[in-house]
Amino acid sequence: MRVIVTGGAGFIGSNFIRYILKKKPGWDITNIDALTYAGNLANLSGIEDSPKYKFIKGDISNPEDVERLFESEYDYLVNFAAETHVDRSLYEPGLFLKTNVLGTQLLLNYALEKRIKRFIQISTDEVYGSLESEGYFDESSPLSPNSPYAASKASADVICRSYSRTFDMPVIITRCGNNYGPYQFPEKVIPFFITKALKDEPLPLYGDGLNVRDWIHVEDHCDAILAVLEKGEIGEVYNIGGGNERTNLELTRIILEILGKPESLIKFVKDRPGHDRRYALNCDKIKAELGWSAQMDFADGLRKTVEWYLNNKKWCDDVISGEYMKFYELHYRERS
Ligand SMILES: NC(=O)c1ccc[n+]([C@@H]2O[C@H](COP(=O)([O-])OP(=O)(O)OC[C@H]3O[C@@H](n4cnc5c(N)ncnc54)[C@H](O)[C@@H]3O)[C@@H](O)[C@H]2O)c1
Repeated sequence: MRVIVTGGAGFIGSNFIRYILKKKPGWDITNIDALTYAGNLANLSGIEDSPKYKFIKGDISNPEDVERLFESEYDYLVNFAAETHVDRSLYEPGLFLKTNVLGTQLLLNYALEKRIKRFIQISTDEVYGSLESEGYFDESSPLSPNSPYAASKASADVICRSYSRTFDMPVIITRCGNNYGPYQFPEKVIPFFITKALKDEPLPLYGDGLNVRDWIHVEDHCDAILAVLEKGEIGEVYNIGGGNERTNLELTRIILEILGKPESLIKFVKDRPGHDRRYALNCDKIKAELGWSAQMDFADGLRKTVEWYLNNKKWCDDVISGEYMKFYELHYRERS
């Protein structure tokens, strides 16, 4: 199979490429990535020279780049490329619409013309909005996004649906909870807090710290995407979750405990506007129809993840020392 992976230099995309090269040694992967601040070719070190892997630097919202990509023939496309950070979407919503909505639509156009056999849109549980302490979102729950990021992903989902219904395109959408694991850019809470705690710096926790997220190890997510790619029903949506609901405060305490750092490092800061209270997914459909369920125990997965960041200090330092983190330092100072 010849597979396009978009956004393959990011966190989940790079893990997915590694996963596929291991699980499907006969498949050919072409990774197109714009290498934004979140894209990092170091995430793919060791596989650049594989005859089964090819990299194209390109922007999914740029017609010339996408045309160049589609000069070759492919079977599948998995669309990870996106602006992904909620905090940034409050400051630059237009960029989120350009990449996440217009970029997805451009890929759909070319994939339709080139008769791609499966187009997998990697979406998020954030499109459903927020839950209070009870209940779960299933695939028929209404889309009710609250941040510009979530709105851009929800928009891409409905455009994908429209291409599937109107043009009979083989599109499938996956909606996953919060991922954790190696190669995650340290703007996201787990690597952010690990790298801060290692320097004995305060960990800025939004609001009362009681917002709940459902965590899944990135390898379980990759495994679910492969199941959907091979066995999922065209036109359907599949929720993907790890079943590990934790408040941000609980998560922070576990990270500090693994690192042997004191809870006094926790610093509560002013809440993010529109901060969703709880995400929780009902994943019965993917379990029943595709026989998939998450395998990684949360405590083990988190411990391994912390170890990975400890063992890959150079990767962290290189990423953090760039221009990238300046946004965060400024942003959290404003809220402190
Ligand atoms: N991280 C999570 O917890 C999570 C959960 C559910 C769904 N998702 C979805 O999974 C996908 C990947 O998320 P991630 O956490 O790996 O994100 P990430 O920010 O780590 O990576 C995104 C990648 O996309 C690339 N990119 C950005 N704009 C681009 C453009 N215009 N053209 C080409 N490439 C571009 C970046 O360079 C980067 O390599 C996203 O679509 C996201 O919405 C993420």
